[in-house]
Amino acid sequence: TVIYYVTPTYPRPNQVPELTRLSHSLMHVPGLHWVVANDHDACDPRVHSILQRSGLPFTHISSPKPPQLNLLRLMPRGVTNRRAALRWITSEPRQGVLYFGDDDNSVDLDLFDEIRKTRKLSMFPVGLISEYGVSSPVLQGGKVIGFFDSWPGARRFAVDMAGFAVNLQHLAPAAAMPYKAGFEEDGFLKSNGFTLEDVEPLADNCTRVLVWHTRSVIPKKKQLKVHLDSDRLDKFDNLR
Ligand code: UGA
Ligand code: MN
Repeated sequence: TVIYYVTPTYPRPNQVPELTRLSHSLMHVPGLHWVVANDHDACDPRVHSILQRSGLPFTHISSPKPPQLNLLRLMPRGVTNRRAALRWITSEPRQGVLYFGDDDNSVDLDLFDEIRKTRKLSMFPVGLISEYGVSSPVLQGGKVIGFFDSWPGARRFAVDMAGFAVNLQHLAPAAAMPYKAGFEEDGFLKSNGFTLEDVEPLADNCTRVLVWHTRSVIPKKKQLKVHLDSDRLDKFDNLR
């Protein structure tokens, strides 16, 4: 079973290190196709080089978000590019499992043995999710009956983007991720027509954390004021 690992990414100082780190995890995974969709108006050669050096089969997509999105109070992150990746995946018949892996998450390689088992819709815990520290399906008698998540919202599926996988056989042609911050996962899963009864718990009945929602600090840039004397080019005023 091929895993289509969909990574939305965007230009910032952390982009190259995040993708480098992620590529060094994914390169150990057999049967993985990496779909990287960059929120940028062109394919970045540095991103391309990371993909090539990973040795993985990959698809590199340029998919900038529409500028109107920046006007929203809560900007949905990574939606335009995930939608572009979905369009590529459904552009021809493919078999396998779809997984959304953000560029800043951390993965245990056992995750891939688990998500490969997905027959329809699988779910599993995600570590480092806001106040509760973990987001996970809640099970009773081996069946998912609800969710432990610090932000339930008005959601059928209170899950993180990294907490589920879908078999492409059950990806509805009209499946779409909404431009609604906080409701991307739930909206996407509902647009597929999934219900709670469809959920297959993985990771030893959701007792293991195999992926973490790690977040990196973006370093603040200091404005360098360079004072150039006619003969001394080495005075950088605010480095003192
Ligand atoms: C959380 C969820 O894990 C995301 O899947 C979800 O899209 C997001 O919240 C949301 O609902 O707003 P979080 O860690 O808060 O994610 O956000 P980021 O890691 O900054 O962004 C999620 C993904 O989208 C990343 O892969 C990031 O590279 C990408 N992104 C972010 C873009 O492609 N464009 C942007 O402008 C910002
Ligand atoms: Mn993140």
